[in-house]
Amino acid sequence: MVEPVRKAVFPVGGLGTRFLPATKAVAKEMLPVIDKPLIQYTVEEAQASGIEQFIFVTGRGKSSIEKHFDHAVELGTSPAEQAKARALKAVSDWLPEPGRVSYTIQPEPLGLGHAVWCARELVGDEPFAVVLTDDLVLSPIPCLKQLLDVYQEKGGNVVAVEDVPKDQTHRYGILDVAGDDGRVAEIKGLVEKPKPEEAPSTLSIIGRYILQPQVFRYLDRHQRGAGGEIQLTDAMASMIGDFPFHGLRFEGRRFDCGSKIGFLEASVAYALERDDLRDDVLRFLRSMV
Ligand code: G1P
Repeated sequence: MVEPVRKAVFPVGGLGTRFLPATKAVAKEMLPVIDKPLIQYTVEEAQASGIEQFIFVTGRGKSSIEKHFDHAVELGTSPAEQAKARALKAVSDWLPEPGRVSYTIQPEPLGLGHAVWCARELVGDEPFAVVLTDDLVLSPIPCLKQLLDVYQEKGGNVVAVEDVPKDQTHRYGILDVAGDDGRVAEIKGLVEKPKPEEAPSTLSIIGRYILQPQVFRYLDRHQRGAGGEIQLTDAMASMIGDFPFHGLRFEGRRFDCGSKIGFLEASVAYALERDDLRDDVLRFLRSMV
């Protein structure tokens, strides 16, 4: 029996410089794909996967995220105000229950490993998930749920992976694979953002992780890795041999919403999934090409 995963950490302290000027006053996680901010897609994915506790590691200028997770509805007495309050309630129905959202601050942008380390007191001594809001995954079964199913079977650490073109390995954590059944890969090594000629494979980590709390022991050392940052990949690599470690080729399509083209692709793909938009979007796309 493996210990259940109840908590998910959302590192949302990033500066979003790739989306300036849009991110000058608005957190990049609040940019909408159609009519929903990125962060809400990933929180809903975690909810649909059974996560109960949502931990946001925020930074400066991220107050819009807190507002988005606020239950508060100003209840006026006039009929118009009450109608407004009801409408607001309807758009808040997806929110986690009070007490299930917590925030902590990453005071300096020292890397993903550092952001996760900032959540150590809120996570405590239990396995947890990490969800990167830049990566949206469109799939019939939520991506995190697919990871949790593998975790049930294998225990240890589990990460979502996909093959990337060889010339893209410098953008990802890359797996060194010990065994592979075509769906689940057993990991014997990890390298953060290797050059193509140094990459042990083209199997790359995307933003969904199930981690054992012992990862904090390694993150405590604050060792700098690729790009001078404290890398989650390096901490996970240090755990190999002590814990089972697997990569899952998840089912679904992943969009890198940290890049402009990925964000645009996500907007089109998610619109095509929606009954209220599909026909109009198809008509528009046909007229454009
Ligand atoms: C981070 C991780 C990297 C992973 C990627 C997935 O990189 O460090 O290992 O492959 O997320 O999106 P970042 O995109 O923050 O540079």
